[in-house]
Amino acid sequence: MRSLVSHLRLAAARFTPGRAVLVAMLMGPIVGALLAFGTVAAEEAKDANVVTIDNFVFTPPELTVAVGTTVKWVNHDDIPHTVVDKNKAFRSKALDTDDAYSFTFASAGTYDYFCGLHPHMQGKIIVK
Ligand code: CO
Repeated sequence: MRSLVSHLRLAAARFTPGRAVLVAMLMGPIVGALLAFGTVAAEEAKDANVVTIDNFVFTPPELTVAVGTTVKWVNHDDIPHTVVDKNKAFRSKALDTDDAYSFTFASAGTYDYFCGLHPHMQGKIIVK
């Protein structure tokens, strides 16, 4: 009887850490996924109305926003760029590295824009 009890204790002692490891293994990816999802969601909310300039490219090249939305352009290049609407609704000054320019779209429409310094750099904001 005593040996059975000690055997059960031994089994329990073995089982508990094993179970903890199992729980940790199951929880790890779940917690990781939740953290990743939260980070991505926060990132998307933060960047929803931001156009970045990287390596002479506006990203996203086309952005659809609601009337009244403020769109922000951020230059990540180490040379200056500008943001110029083809129909002259807006025009930024030269943006140095990490400089930003914001414009609030009060009217619906399609706004094609380009970089005044490198006119092949083009983008589009659709305001609905
Ligand atoms: Co440019």
